[in-house]
Amino acid sequence: MHADARSDLAAWRAEVPALALPVHGRRLVYLDNAATTLMARPVIDAVARVATHLPGNVHRGVHALAEAADAAFEGARATIARHLGARPDEIVLTSGTTAAINLVAQAWGRANLGPGDAVVVSALEHHANLVPWQAACAERGATLRIAPIDDAGRIDLVALDALLDARVKLLAVAHLSNVVGTVAPIAAIAARAHAVGARVLVDGAQALPHLPIDVAALGCDFYACSGHKAYGPTGTGVLWGRADVLAAMPPWQHGGEMVAAVEATRARYREAPARFEAGTPNISGVIGLAAALDHAATRDRAAVAAHEARLHARLRAGLAATPGVRVLGAPEAAVVSFEVAGVHPHDVATILDQEGVCVRSGLHCAEPLHARLGAAASVRASLAYYNGDDDVDALLAALTRVREVFA
Ligand SMILES: Cc1ncc(COP(=O)(O)O)c(C=O)c1O
Repeated sequence: MHADARSDLAAWRAEVPALALPVHGRRLVYLDNAATTLMARPVIDAVARVATHLPGNVHRGVHALAEAADAAFEGARATIARHLGARPDEIVLTSGTTAAINLVAQAWGRANLGPGDAVVVSALEHHANLVPWQAACAERGATLRIAPIDDAGRIDLVALDALLDARVKLLAVAHLSNVVGTVAPIAAIAARAHAVGARVLVDGAQALPHLPIDVAALGCDFYACSGHKAYGPTGTGVLWGRADVLAAMPPWQHGGEMVAAVEATRARYREAPARFEAGTPNISGVIGLAAALDHAATRDRAAVAAHEARLHARLRAGLAATPGVRVLGAPEAAVVSFEVAGVHPHDVATILDQEGVCVRSGLHCAEPLHARLGAAASVRASLAYYNGDDDVDALLAALTRVREVFA
């Protein structure tokens, strides 16, 4: 690591208070970033500022506190839009990726799916981008088609082409896999789906913290992501939808703030995005998410990308050199999942935890993908900008300990 990168890392880490939490009396080695990320001080401060200085509700009051909350909340929406290359009225604020995908599966699905229609998802999807489509297809009499992947964990584009025909109304695919760490060629996939008239939803839960996101360049129709995986608060998320697609979509949940006029037996709904935001939103969370995206933009993007790529390569090389370890697929970014021969992933994670190393073990909400890759379960290490060589090396050293315990 050159001196600049080392001083950048030290400065980045100094802003993240949770990194100072000891685990079993050891330094925290946090490698569970794909599950959730740690917030930097400016993000925590933004959330706290809402509690202390912006206590009003949004979209309803005319008093000073309500108007201040409203301005901050809508300002946050505009900030989030700017970071995604979108317009503010295309940003629907949700509780996370799961809610964003359910919104599309249910609201868009109700209006656009029927008997004989098909939805395509890939074989590497998180349950959040699979089960909502299973349910929507079952409800609407549509068929769910699964686009196969190769052993590297990449979507097989030739096989995908064979699945795409005029019956396909929507294709839903992850941008960055939460298990195999592969990056899908979204623009190429979207062009194929659009050629048969299908809409394209991208699950960006893992991509947002690691890849530059420009929804227009990606060429999709919907982009779903979560705040807490991108160094923001839990309970926040975004559904970006192209303006014309949102305009034609019926509401999802019904209640206050999504209506233009209500009579005793019927209601008229507001335009997007308000039509999709019934009830009081997570005001402090949304403001925190905007702060997280702003704060990420203060870090040199190229330096962060190079740092993460180098760490990822170190992790892959270290695992490849560790006897008894099998890496799932051919990871390209941020995430590496692996098995340790003869040791259950939960046992691996428990021993790592004793060494202060936090990783995820199990199926990572991707049961069909594990079956496809012939793994009963796996251990997942996932990186963030605040990880360093010391974290990767601590994981590799702790794996030696696993081998000793199970020798
Ligand atoms: C690829 C992917 N999609 C969707 C989700 C669901 O995100 P959330 O739990 O924030 O709704 C996750 C979370 O792990 C994920 O990794």
